[in-house]
Amino acid sequence: MKPALNPQQNEISIPAEANPMSGPRHVAIIMDGNGRWAQMRNRPRLFGHHAGARRVRQIVEACPPNGVNYLTIFAFSTENWKRTQVEVSGLMKLFQRYITKEARTLADAGVRVRFIGDRVRLNDKLVELMDSLESMTEKNDKVHLTIALNYGGRDEVARATKRLAQDVASGKLDPEIVDEETLPKYLDTYVLPDPDLVIRTSGEARISNFLLWQSAYSEYEFVETLWPDFTAEEFGALTSKYGNRDRRFGGVKV
Ligand code: IPE
Ligand code: IPE
Ligand code: MG
Repeated sequence: MKPALNPQQNEISIPAEANPMSGPRHVAIIMDGNGRWAQMRNRPRLFGHHAGARRVRQIVEACPPNGVNYLTIFAFSTENWKRTQVEVSGLMKLFQRYITKEARTLADAGVRVRFIGDRVRLNDKLVELMDSLESMTEKNDKVHLTIALNYGGRDEVARATKRLAQDVASGKLDPEIVDEETLPKYLDTYVLPDPDLVIRTSGEARISNFLLWQSAYSEYEFVETLWPDFTAEEFGALTSKYGNRDRRFGGVKV
């Protein structure tokens, strides 16, 4: 069944009979190509970012029918501050606008929203909106939507290591017991399962500092589609394709 969106009512209606199949439980997306999408139309880059933001709702809606419980999207990287002041401040305004506009819809649709990344560099108003959307949706569990904002995988590991070292210094953590189960408890994603499938749009075949630790064994799909053109159908096709893959995690299939 196709999820129906009634634009008049501004509601996402998610069908209850989601079929988990053998699809990915957690999909992470590097939403790339907004700038090129705008350039192709002779419009400013921010026009592409607005079009890209509008795509998110359809992909969130497409999660339950494809058996996806966790969706993590890369919205702004720790390296994206290198862009022009016009683009960066336009993006920050867009994030505020997006949260304000979509909060009620997401909450009513049973979506639990979380943000990962370093909030220190973000403005107070935006952080306030992020905190309030997280608490407003904390009882939901139909879809876990995680938005990576001022996120960088290396930055995340560095921040985690710093806190781990502080716990060792204060005697709270015995360094002898630190292993690969310990560090992820300090990552921003500590409550999330690792992504099963990472999709990047726009034809670039790199991960650009996204979920470095968490995606060690993820499957990857690099597609040519620019993010503002990415549809629920393409998302569905990629999740079905994932079901046919053979994940061995370094072992041998018996
Ligand atoms: C991705 O689109 C969105 C952000 C990084 C904020 P881009 O803005 O990177 O689009 P291209 O890669 O220039 O086309
Ligand atoms: C990655 O895209 C970051 C986001 C999608 C938010 P970029 O466009 O910033 O990555 P590079 O510069 O092509 O590696
Ligand atoms: Mg890009």
